Amino acid sequence: MKRSEINRILREGHDFIRSFSFHLPGFARLTPDQMRERRVELSGIISSRLGWDITDYGQNDFENLGLFLFTCRNGSQRDMKRGGTMCYAEKIMISRRDQISPMHRHIVKSEDIINRGGARLALKMFSSDKVGNIDSKAEVLVITDGFDRRLSAGETLLLAPGESVTLKPGNWHAFWGEGGDVLIGEVSSVNDDLTDNIFADPLGRFAEIEEDEAPLHLLVSDYDKWLAPQG
Ligand SMILES: [Fe+2]
Repeated sequence: MKRSEINRILREGHDFIRSFSFHLPGFARLTPDQMRERRVELSGIISSRLGWDITDYGQNDFENLGLFLFTCRNGSQRDMKRGGTMCYAEKIMISRRDQISPMHRHIVKSEDIINRGGARLALKMFSSDKVGNIDSKAEVLVITDGFDRRLSAGETLLLAPGESVTLKPGNWHAFWGEGGDVLIGEVSSVNDDLTDNIFADPLGRFAEIEEDEAPLHLLVSDYDKWLAPQG
């Protein structure tokens, strides 16, 4: 993706989020220079990979295959293994109309995916077989807002604004905005996007970026390169 496209998506996404009176934390406004200058003070934000995350899954077709995310909070794997302190994470995301977040499962993370407003959110789901691959026949058992739901393999669940689904590790899922753009909340156990996403098709988790203008804000995938200590 070109950086100019990412900047445009950042602006549009932030406007969409604000249109629901949802407000991002203060670190969302930091410029790349401010992050560089304050990187010691921001080490918790950087190491937990909080902040902006726009991905086309490396396929350069964001309109059809992509996701806008902002990670608001995130604990550490160490804490989660210990079962103490911050075992949770929160993201706010946008799926545009018919824009696919491709079929994947998580190894560790359990997540509630919540329709926070806009259009309906569609999720296509499968169970895992014994070795973790998509089971094309088995039913999918999930919880939607406290109720048990039984879906057939590959069935699409539609969530209206306010509705949510609880996904466990091994639940394969792909999702998109049905009939329009949708604001999505994610409340989950600790999140590690470097290691915890298994895709059905070979895809990257992050965009490859062509630098054709200066970044408005850094993406979490920029932190290693842009915030490395100099010298
Ligand atoms: Fe997921």
